[in-house]
Amino acid sequence: MRFGRFDDAAREYVIETPRTPHPWINYLGAESFFSLVSNTAGGYSFYRDARLRRLTRYRYNDVPQDANGRYLYIREWKDGVPVGPAWNPGWKPTKTELDSYECRHGLGRTTLRGEKNALRATVRMLVPLGETAEVQELVLENRSSAAKTVKIHSFVEFCLYNALDDFTNFQRNLNTGQVEIEGAGIYHVTEYRERRDHFAWFWTDAAIAGFDSDRETFIGRDGDYACPLAVEKGASGNSVADGWSPVASHRIEWTLAPGEKKRAVFVLGYTENAAARKWEKPGVANKEKARAVQARFADPAGFDAAWKALEAFWTDKLSRFSVQTGDEKLDRMANIWNQYQCVVTYNLARSASFFESGIGRGIGFRDTCQDMLGFVHLMPEKARERLFDVASTQFPDGGAYHQFQPLTKRGNADIGGNFNDDPLWLVMGVAGYLKETGDWAFLTESVPFDNDPKNAATLFEHLKRSFNHVTDNMGPHGLPLIGRADWNDCLNLNCFSTDPNDSFQTSGNKDGRNAESVLIAQMFVYAAPDYVEICKRMGDGAEAERASKAAADMEKAILKSGWDGEWFLRAWDDRGGKVGSKDCPDGKIFIETQGFGAMARVGAAEGYPLKALDAAAKHLDTPHGAVILDPPYQEYHLELGEVSSYPPGYKENGGIFCHNNPWLMIGEARNGRPDRAFAYWKKIAPAYREEISELHRMEPYVYAQMIAGKGSARHGEAKNSWLTGTAAWNFVALSQWIVGVRPEFDGLRVEPRLPSHVKKATLRRVYRGAEYLIEVDNRNNTGEVRLSADGAAVDGCVLPAAPAGSSVRVKAVVG
Ligand code: GLC
Ligand code: GLC
Repeated sequence: MRFGRFDDAAREYVIETPRTPHPWINYLGAESFFSLVSNTAGGYSFYRDARLRRLTRYRYNDVPQDANGRYLYIREWKDGVPVGPAWNPGWKPTKTELDSYECRHGLGRTTLRGEKNALRATVRMLVPLGETAEVQELVLENRSSAAKTVKIHSFVEFCLYNALDDFTNFQRNLNTGQVEIEGAGIYHVTEYRERRDHFAWFWTDAAIAGFDSDRETFIGRDGDYACPLAVEKGASGNSVADGWSPVASHRIEWTLAPGEKKRAVFVLGYTENAAARKWEKPGVANKEKARAVQARFADPAGFDAAWKALEAFWTDKLSRFSVQTGDEKLDRMANIWNQYQCVVTYNLARSASFFESGIGRGIGFRDTCQDMLGFVHLMPEKARERLFDVASTQFPDGGAYHQFQPLTKRGNADIGGNFNDDPLWLVMGVAGYLKETGDWAFLTESVPFDNDPKNAATLFEHLKRSFNHVTDNMGPHGLPLIGRADWNDCLNLNCFSTDPNDSFQTSGNKDGRNAESVLIAQMFVYAAPDYVEICKRMGDGAEAERASKAAADMEKAILKSGWDGEWFLRAWDDRGGKVGSKDCPDGKIFIETQGFGAMARVGAAEGYPLKALDAAAKHLDTPHGAVILDPPYQEYHLELGEVSSYPPGYKENGGIFCHNNPWLMIGEARNGRPDRAFAYWKKIAPAYREEISELHRMEPYVYAQMIAGKGSARHGEAKNSWLTGTAAWNFVALSQWIVGVRPEFDGLRVEPRLPSHVKKATLRRVYRGAEYLIEVDNRNNTGEVRLSADGAAVDGCVLPAAPAGSSVRVKAVVG
């Protein structure tokens, strides 16, 4: 069952009912100001950091769900008496039944349209480029033949900036709230008189009949968002918050003639002032910058220009990779939604979604290096900056803080390091960046270790330490030590936690010298060729040779101690037991090592890649994607940690991790079975799951981290949409391996491995400033690929990088 439809021309998903199985959200903002907005106008805004600069309040885990946002209450009045109940264009929070409803989530913008009793409200929202503000434009149209008088109450609730403190520290916080009112501007100046150099504000260009900034006055002592006292009375208290909870609400009163439309904008802004310019008069915050923003949007042309500029921004970004295959679901994922999600995921890391509360983790070292792979073609400058920041948190021994904080760019000491896969992701992230950009100078830049400018080395040196961190930390089978965990955060083989108050990730892990990860070994083999090439080009032949030998030894070690007969083992535990073996009662086979083993072509001479993939197909595949392991652990295993803590079928204990399904896809594509690659993708790609939205429950336009596995009671139900490495890895699998356009160090490889139902495809790829227009004739998708560029046959499948600004016409005949 569907709850909406794709509008590909508008690059929007159109939600046709507010009663979606879960709030279906979107993100506004692509620079420093971000808003989450659900299909019923719920969500919140923040500046840069969802924890430390939260501008509006949101209540996670509340009932009913998604009960705070930016709301417009509309009510008709006649002769001083209300005509029917108040309603919202996005249905919530009044939940008054609408005559019609539509929510369009687009790229960085959302439009809500609600109609009640011949009044149609259209609300367009965006965070304009270059602004630190969320702007909403309301157009209210009287579609009846009689004049109508309406009262409109706007509403946002301010958060006291530090979201965690705001949730917990009431003895202080209920005393600190302060606002200033100036015309239609309600300025939230809590703590501005002390250490803050910033404030948030809410303003409208409409003439206002009243306002409120004290929550209790607006809502009433026993009121709620569904029925605020001020809306009920059709009045405002003109309240000035003093302690308690500051909010912002305007009241507008309009009379609309038949057919008339009226328009108002509402701006939620964030302003920062330098110390010397903090005050405009003693005790009065300097609002100069805020007024300048307001002036830009008081003019309707200002809003339209911002709307168009945002559209142009996305058109430009998305034009760097686009493909037409005739399979509309494939095309919309590849051309619109997968790339959009890659950008959002890069911007927000794992901070703020409807599953990540914005107060928890910083930016993950491994997470961001992987996000890079799906993002670098869109905004290489930003990727460079992030790689620099990530590498700056690395330890001198090549290890890494598992996470760092975006505001301070410092490693996060609470969680520390010792996730032994982390260093290798830096090698892969940087290699991805180099292949896209050819920016070899990046490797010679000086980058600190652990943010200590006194201890800096070239980025190339950081990569060396990363690579060698693996070989410096080897276990008894000649395989890499796992440390706290590898990619699978929940495989905690040194944790042994018996205390429910422990966190699996941070609790007293022993400095284990036994538990080893086959995955890290395979990642090492996978990353080695790129690393060797980097060493050669940096003129370090000795290191290149050493690294090749280390990779060959690693492969031997995997063949000897990492193969279980029909598939790759997952790990060795601390006491020397196998993890992911046919001998284990549960957790006999894991996806990670089948996927990565096949990607790295470990044991190709023995036929292991295909065997591993066949085993994955046999034991892990389901109609909803491949589970991470099987059978799920039925009991808690002290020696395995969090992986066995989840109920069977969820998360790392047998859920479908959409993040590593692409490893199977890439493995299949690389090992000559493109139809199987596509079949895996189709099962988890949201556009293909749209028809089962009642089961899937998450947004049909973005991937979810996890879909409940076959071991659970809710098989097929997704959770944790939006912020997940799933976006990047699926885009890599889709664009680089299935569509088959893959940057290499010296050029663009074109090796389509499209599914057999796609007979012809055309695509455009911008690479190092040159445009490649590629036509694919997919005669037999496992066959040889023959290329020609501008009419001349090309030897092999790699097109050399063409001069920036040039355009190359390419024909690829497959089979
Ligand atoms: C989450 C984490 C990621 C980890 C994965 C598997 O997605 O963000 O770092 O690799 O779970 O545990
Ligand atoms: C939990 C989650 C896992 C995530 C980790 C990150 O273990 O289950 O998916 O990677 O937290 O800290």
